Amino acid sequence: GRGIDRSGMVAGAGDGTGGERALVDLLAQSISSGSSRAKLVAAFVGSAGANLCFLLLPLQIPLVVSALDDPNSSSNKDLLRGCARMVGLYLFRVVLGHGGRHLLNEVGEEALLGIQQRLFSAAQRLKVESFELEFGLGKILPLLEHDAPAIRDVLTINLERVVMGSFYVCGGIYLCLAISKFLSLVVFAAVVPIAASSMLLKRVSERFGRRLSDRRSRLAERSRLVLGSTRLVRSHACEELELARYKELGREYAAEASAQSVFMSACKGGSGLTHSFALMAIIFFGVRKASASDGLRSGELVALVNIVVEIGKHLDMAVNNYLLLSTAAGKALKCQEVLQAAKAADSSGGSDAPGPICSLEPASTSSGPVLELRRCTYAYDDGEGKTKGVREISFSCAPGELLCLVGPSGCGKSTALDLVSKFRPCQGGQVLIHGRDLAAVPDGVCRSWVSWVGQSSAIVPGTVRENIAYGLPLATDEDVMEAVRLSSCDDFIDEKVLDQTFDEGTGFNLSGGQRARVAIARGLLKVLKGSASVLLLDEVTANLDPLSEASLLSGIRKVTKRHRVATLFVTHRISNAKIADKVLVVKSGAVIERGTHDQLCDMEGGVYQKLLAASDSF
Ligand SMILES: Nc1ncnc2c1ncn2[C@@H]1O[C@H](COP(=O)(O)OP(=O)(O)OP(=O)(O)O)[C@@H](O)[C@H]1O
Ligand SMILES: [Mg+2]
Repeated sequence: GRGIDRSGMVAGAGDGTGGERALVDLLAQSISSGSSRAKLVAAFVGSAGANLCFLLLPLQIPLVVSALDDPNSSSNKDLLRGCARMVGLYLFRVVLGHGGRHLLNEVGEEALLGIQQRLFSAAQRLKVESFELEFGLGKILPLLEHDAPAIRDVLTINLERVVMGSFYVCGGIYLCLAISKFLSLVVFAAVVPIAASSMLLKRVSERFGRRLSDRRSRLAERSRLVLGSTRLVRSHACEELELARYKELGREYAAEASAQSVFMSACKGGSGLTHSFALMAIIFFGVRKASASDGLRSGELVALVNIVVEIGKHLDMAVNNYLLLSTAAGKALKCQEVLQAAKAADSSGGSDAPGPICSLEPASTSSGPVLELRRCTYAYDDGEGKTKGVREISFSCAPGELLCLVGPSGCGKSTALDLVSKFRPCQGGQVLIHGRDLAAVPDGVCRSWVSWVGQSSAIVPGTVRENIAYGLPLATDEDVMEAVRLSSCDDFIDEKVLDQTFDEGTGFNLSGGQRARVAIARGLLKVLKGSASVLLLDEVTANLDPLSEASLLSGIRKVTKRHRVATLFVTHRISNAKIADKVLVVKSGAVIERGTHDQLCDMEGGVYQKLLAASDSF
């Protein structure tokens, strides 16, 4: 259902129900500092003042026009006075308007920063691991990149427009009434409903338009999926079927697109027509009044038309405001879901709270294993009643011991590592590090004892140094370079590039194997400089060439021995297992064979022998 799964994925965006409330809450929490609130009020006042000035501008028109009509000395003074007032009002408007906009922008930026920081810390608390950026935080990052800015826009664009709009609509009507003492009220009675209906039409058209364009983008997405899975389609010999399906989708897409364009043009034309109709009515009645004996002066007519045009423009803007607000409300709902999920995670179970790292020392004794798994069980529920994962897996790893886990794909190797890093809780049995049951150790503390490098190597935004010394601010350049050498990254990283950034497109680009080695360097540095005494390496050599692989393996062995860490090394390449002190063969979630490489090689009819034979025959 809706909410957040363990990897931090946000589901069910919400389309606005309750979204406005969420938006208001989110903004209220983000604009909590006194200075921000003062800026907001000042911006509001500035914007109101600017709009008042602009609204008073047309009032000068009758004076100027009548002075032009009657060129004698006294009206020349009127002309000058009228023009000077207009320039003055305009200047006021510019200064107040820009000042207000600047303040609004500042408040908007501050609010954005606040929202992003709260989302980020929520993401952290939701156990989205820093190193899982790609598949965990990656799902929350779009919130930071796209949704939070949309909320900022509400403040910076919308608030200004709301102030302007309300001024024009209320103040404009009032002023129209004031200047047109000679004009029939009927005109105003006509203008307001006409303008309102034009606004309604536009609003309805936008809403329908959005629905249509959503359907179109869904269609486009489906077409892309059909085209994108070519390999799968080919392997099932379904080209004909997919071709026909694609044609069908194409036809639907074209029909939707044309319906949308017809609808939108009809609505736009309709709203333009109603607006013009309102203007024509003003001019028609105005001219009739002007030719009547009590006379509406031409200046008053121009001022009137001017004001009506402005009212129309701002009614239009009000529609856009509405759209912007409802978009931002939907996005605010998503942000609130993340924040609330983090709060719920904090209140349920204290072990999830991000307690101070290393507040708990390991109950370490130099004798005995660093890591021990005792009959650990973890079952994934696949929804069909069948369960997979690990069952009653047991093994231990002494200080300075390199254990290699091998076994067929899906046998539970990564799951076993997940239990050690506490990415998943043990459902049965115990994991002990330095004799402490991890069930009683806060996650943050456990993570400081463990250095984990996963199957997909994430690169975090930032420089080369920041990527390798991730979470280790005290590591020096020498430490970083040592990790670089041990992980055999030294063919593409030296001291000179430490300040370059890893960026897609720009900056420092990495191949798959290079990314993997950077991730390993990060993992090793945590052992060299951090508090980690368990090193977990999940299939880290899969993308490497044989030379880098060999030098990396010797680096890993060196670190394991020198720093006396317990290293679990998961691999599919049986040849890698030769460097291990002990090999565990995992099948269906349990260890079925264990021993040194040589012992297992000698085990007649064993799984290890078969795996070895299969890899040799390649
Ligand atoms: N999130 C999940 N939800 C449901 N089942 C899962 C999930 N993750 C893994 N599994 C299942 O649990 C079993 C063990 O998965 P695991 O990832 O531990 O295997 P593995 O030994 O690491 O495989 P590989 O060598 O391919 O990485 C697999 O059968 C897999 O299908
Ligand atoms: Mg795996």
